[in-house]
Amino acid sequence: MLVLGVESSCDETSVAVVRDGKEILSNIIYSQIDIHKEFGGVVPEVASRHHIKKITIVFEEAFKKANVLPSDIDVVAVTGKPGLVGSLLVGINAAEAFALAFNIPCIKIDHITGHIYANYIEHTFDFPLLALVVSGGHTELVLMKEHYSFEKLGETLDDAIGEAYDKVGRVLGLPYPGGVYVDKISQGVTPTYELPLVYLDNQPYNFSFSGLKSAVLNIINKANMKKEVIDKASLAASFQSVAVKVLVDKTINAAKEFKVKKIVIAGGVAANSHLRNSLKEAAKAIDLEVNYPSMKYCTDNAAMIAVSGYFKYKLNK
Ligand code: KG4
Ligand code: ZN
Repeated sequence: MLVLGVESSCDETSVAVVRDGKEILSNIIYSQIDIHKEFGGVVPEVASRHHIKKITIVFEEAFKKANVLPSDIDVVAVTGKPGLVGSLLVGINAAEAFALAFNIPCIKIDHITGHIYANYIEHTFDFPLLALVVSGGHTELVLMKEHYSFEKLGETLDDAIGEAYDKVGRVLGLPYPGGVYVDKISQGVTPTYELPLVYLDNQPYNFSFSGLKSAVLNIINKANMKKEVIDKASLAASFQSVAVKVLVDKTINAAKEFKVKKIVIAGGVAANSHLRNSLKEAAKAIDLEVNYPSMKYCTDNAAMIAVSGYFKYKLNK
């Protein structure tokens, strides 16, 4: 079965051709990061305009690279939610128009399921499986007892982890997206700043990162008032060590409680080296394997949407 994946929920315009939910024939990604860098974050109106500019070219490139004809496609899978409404609309219109023209089904995919299924491209799934979803918009622990069954165990009550990373990056004067640069400047640096570890009483699988973000801001503001110099790398490393510790501890607790057979990390923050290493190490102690996608499948891409679409369609979900 050939699935055409389409993703345009934020600042990546992407189209992919995937065979049988596993073999990536093409995965074209046009990223708008350089455009939004100027503004320090994604500007929704600018994002949708660029999706319109690029979507047809990205469709064409996806077929060319995959070496298939548009008429070879069996199903179209497009990100339906969540995301920026104007951006989503561009991908959905293009996908539905394509499906209508070739008289094939077009199914809408939840973006988060795409991030989880990005792991399936290079690994296998063993159930029950626990997914730690960490992106710019989401922080969730999701339990999967079988393919295409998603049980949310907990989520963030305020900021998503990627959002917190990006805000900390911004106050430290790092380029957009902050998460990437906070990770970079923290490499091999000892954390020396004291920051709060927020576990939330009686909410074992929920998260909160806004207090941590404010604590970083307070340190910077106080230093500025006293005209003291901040050790940026150490503050970044301190933020990262606290944020990752909470993510890892809660994930391991859930893995134990639900006796899962595998943990996967999903979403843009799955690219974070400290998170990957810490979770892997903690899971090893309880004999559990941790999978994460390779870098190109961590951030937004259409291949993961096509893989999720393959299972959704095949299982009639
Ligand atoms: O999944 P994604 O591409 O978009 C959403 O669906 O939100 O995730 C983007 C997020 C951004 O917040 C970005 O800063 C973060 O992923 N990110 C990272 C790293 N690479 C990307 N955060 C921490 N460390 C990284 N290496
Ligand atoms: Zn995403």
